[in-house]
Amino acid sequence: MTETSNAAVPPAKDNVLEVEDLTMHFPVRSSGIIRRVVGHVQAVDGVSFSLPRGGSLGLVGESGCGKSTTGRMVARLLKPTRGEIRFEGTDIAQMSARELQPIRRDIQMIFQDPYGSLNPRQTVGSIVATPMEIHKTLPEKEIKPRVQELLEFVGLNPEHYNRYPHEFSGGQRQRIGIARSLALQPKVLVADEPVSALDVSIQAQVINLLQDVQREFNIGFLFIAHDLAIVRHFCPEIAVMYLGRIVEIGDRDALYGAPLHPYTQALISAAPDVKQAAVGGRRERIRLEGDVPSPINPPSGCRFRTRCSLAQEICAKVEPPLLQVGPKHKVACHFAGELGHAPTKPITADLLGVDDAGNPVAGKEPRTDLESPEYRETWFDLNATK
Ligand SMILES: Nc1ncnc2c1ncn2[C@@H]1O[C@H](COP(=O)(O)OP(=O)(O)OP(=O)(O)O)[C@@H](O)[C@H]1O
Ligand code: SF4
Ligand SMILES: [Mg+2]
Repeated sequence: MTETSNAAVPPAKDNVLEVEDLTMHFPVRSSGIIRRVVGHVQAVDGVSFSLPRGGSLGLVGESGCGKSTTGRMVARLLKPTRGEIRFEGTDIAQMSARELQPIRRDIQMIFQDPYGSLNPRQTVGSIVATPMEIHKTLPEKEIKPRVQELLEFVGLNPEHYNRYPHEFSGGQRQRIGIARSLALQPKVLVADEPVSALDVSIQAQVINLLQDVQREFNIGFLFIAHDLAIVRHFCPEIAVMYLGRIVEIGDRDALYGAPLHPYTQALISAAPDVKQAAVGGRRERIRLEGDVPSPINPPSGCRFRTRCSLAQEICAKVEPPLLQVGPKHKVACHFAGELGHAPTKPITADLLGVDDAGNPVAGKEPRTDLESPEYRETWFDLNATK
């Protein structure tokens, strides 16, 4: 495979957040009095991405692939096992609670369950006001008018300041959660499946509101979703996760127009409104066979191999690197290719110093510069292998 470049690549954007090699391994302990660590849940394993200021990145994948864990690390509700989370250039990954104090207001989170995340004994006014009171962002007398302004912005009646969460519908409660998350004017918002618990008819309204929020407040969104259709409308860039790893990431057109990873292809074929484009006009669904393996003991080599119809010997021996294959497109698959046009030989073998079966070739060193957290101005040309 050869490298190609494009002089027209735009200059690097102003990233509000850069995540590199982010990893969370939860210890698994034995039962009994002495609770020894007997293994680790590899919930997130070496994930890298960046979030432009005022931009949005969608994070999708099946249940248990590590989306929420990634979001919770970014919001530093969890301390990562390894890796960097650079917020405006400062690594916050291992900061103590005290060090995080001034940064807390800048990174907020919206949760899936709008009821569970609101205190039922607090009025709406007090729910939205509390962050401003704790962080002392406004003089006391300005807090109530600001809360009412925020309620109005999210489409709620500012007169309902004194009502309790149970007096609102699910969609309205999510609006309260959004108003609360905006109270401190954050620079990053992690939205963890913010509309999954809502009726389909309400989902579009809340998504429209989030788009208004993004435009008005210039917030960087990490938008977590199961539903590829929702992410497609919201995010110009999307990352697909499988068993704790990013398997494909790219701009919307590249990812939906020409997905290169068999897992992305299967996910897209299952999403109703993009199905036809994914299969080139044929209305056909790719079925994912089998269950997701345990993250305590993930498969060797490519983690997707136990469910992949393209898997060959090399897939069990060598983990495919997340290679950049277009101006804004990366994929981790030895046989990356458009649906129905997968190469017959691994595209990665030469780069990794192995033969087509994944065995090391004497005298050939693997390249060590295959992955980078950013998009580079040069990338690997898949067509060059044909
Ligand atoms: N505190 C924890 N201790 C141990 N394992 C955990 C913990 N939190 C999450 N996990 C495990 O980590 C893996 C990833 O979980 P996570 O909640 O991040 O997935 P997800 O992609 O958000 O799934 P869903 O779509 O169901 O919300 C799962 O196997 C989960 O069981
Ligand atoms: S590396 Fe192999 S197993 Fe993994 S997705 Fe590609 S073809 Fe399938
Ligand atoms: Mg989750």
